[in-house]
Amino acid sequence: MCEGLILVAILLTKVGARVMRGESGSMDLFQTCYDYVEPSFARMAGIYPFFLPLEGSEGPVVTYQGKEVVMMGSNNYLGLTHHPKVREAARDAIDKYGTGCTGSRFLNGNLDLHDRLEHALATLFGYEDALVFASGFLANVGVVAALGSIPGAVIFSERENHASLIDGTRLARGEVRLFADLNDLDRQLSKESDWSHALVISDAVFSMTGRVTDLRRLAELKRRHGFKLYVDDAHGIGVLGPDGRGAVFDQGVRADVDLLFGTFSKSLASLGGFVCAEKRVIEWLRHKTRSLIFTAGLPPASVAAALASLEVMRDEAGELRAQVWANARYWREGLDAIGYYTMGSTTPIVPAMIGSESLAFRVARDLLDLGVFALPVPYPVVPYGQSLIRTSVMPTHTREHLDQALDAFARVRKRYEIPEFDPENLPVADCEDWSWFMPDQAKSTSSPAA
Ligand SMILES: Cc1ncc(COP(=O)(O)O)c(C=O)c1O
Repeated sequence: MCEGLILVAILLTKVGARVMRGESGSMDLFQTCYDYVEPSFARMAGIYPFFLPLEGSEGPVVTYQGKEVVMMGSNNYLGLTHHPKVREAARDAIDKYGTGCTGSRFLNGNLDLHDRLEHALATLFGYEDALVFASGFLANVGVVAALGSIPGAVIFSERENHASLIDGTRLARGEVRLFADLNDLDRQLSKESDWSHALVISDAVFSMTGRVTDLRRLAELKRRHGFKLYVDDAHGIGVLGPDGRGAVFDQGVRADVDLLFGTFSKSLASLGGFVCAEKRVIEWLRHKTRSLIFTAGLPPASVAAALASLEVMRDEAGELRAQVWANARYWREGLDAIGYYTMGSTTPIVPAMIGSESLAFRVARDLLDLGVFALPVPYPVVPYGQSLIRTSVMPTHTREHLDQALDAFARVRKRYEIPEFDPENLPVADCEDWSWFMPDQAKSTSSPAA
């Protein structure tokens, strides 16, 4: 189909769907699925950016369609997925335990390795105990749902929190309130004097923008209002704080954090998630959290890789951390110099704001063609009109990798009219912009060959 017809086709499909729904508003259950045409149109326009099948990985470089591209979109913040000790631990675990647990940890899928990992986590983060789940998502969703269903519980959840926390609050049977920022939280808490029945939940480092929460202020609010505090440090552990123990340690608030969440799927180069807390709380969660009890245990290779990564992170990752921070600075300053708005990021996660959803798709596609893998992040992960390309660095990126990627970002920026963003006045839209499904030459400031 000619690309120029794509937008018209989207409109016709949407209008057609509305007509079919008729007066009553009811329709075939699957009609919503059949009406969901945007991915097909993005594919037809050649800019569909999701589920790209990578054929191999060396960490900073991956293979896509037989071509090596620089990976600027992973969460491998210490580059440990290819560390010899981590790989060896995973292989040894398969030799000793096989490839899967084939059952819930609760019943028939618990290994001494799981117990060792929990002990190592509790010791490293200074808690009485820890609980390991088959993924970070399952840990958040299960723990928040369980605690938030205790009679009388009230959850306060920061608006920008990760989807797994949001879904946990949706499953919780108690009251859930959202807060926009810490001033807003303070305002909401000021209405009562005792909040010991409340759980306040916040990401420490927001995954798309790299924004770091002011945990000291949160701890001060906790001391004043008496709530329990749950911090998700998925993106801080590994890179922030002494020995990579994360944002909570970086800001010196460990004693105020009742539940510390982390994942093995980022700096710790594996799969799985965990929470640390006092012994009696973990004991209760161990017997009450449905996402632990009613799913199979984390496979041996993943547990062993997480355990080995944790040891490398604690004992020998000083240089890797220094390098990831040096790379983060070089990369962010490079993007800033080209003219991208990097949203004040201070972490190895560096967003480059694009604005339009479909332009972000097009930019990501052009970057891939130029040998750089980076992720477009559209609504609903960010507000309408504030789509971005989310990039992140590893210590294993060389200057050559980063320069190659910066060159690609510079070429793409010349190619399209990416606006200058005013941080005080970010664009507000009420729907997605799909106009970049069609390559409109009038929008292009120079030829695609630029
Ligand atoms: C902030 C945050 N919390 C939790 C998770 C879930 O972690 P996992 O990938 O282990 O399921 C993620 C992963 O994207 C995340 O970014």
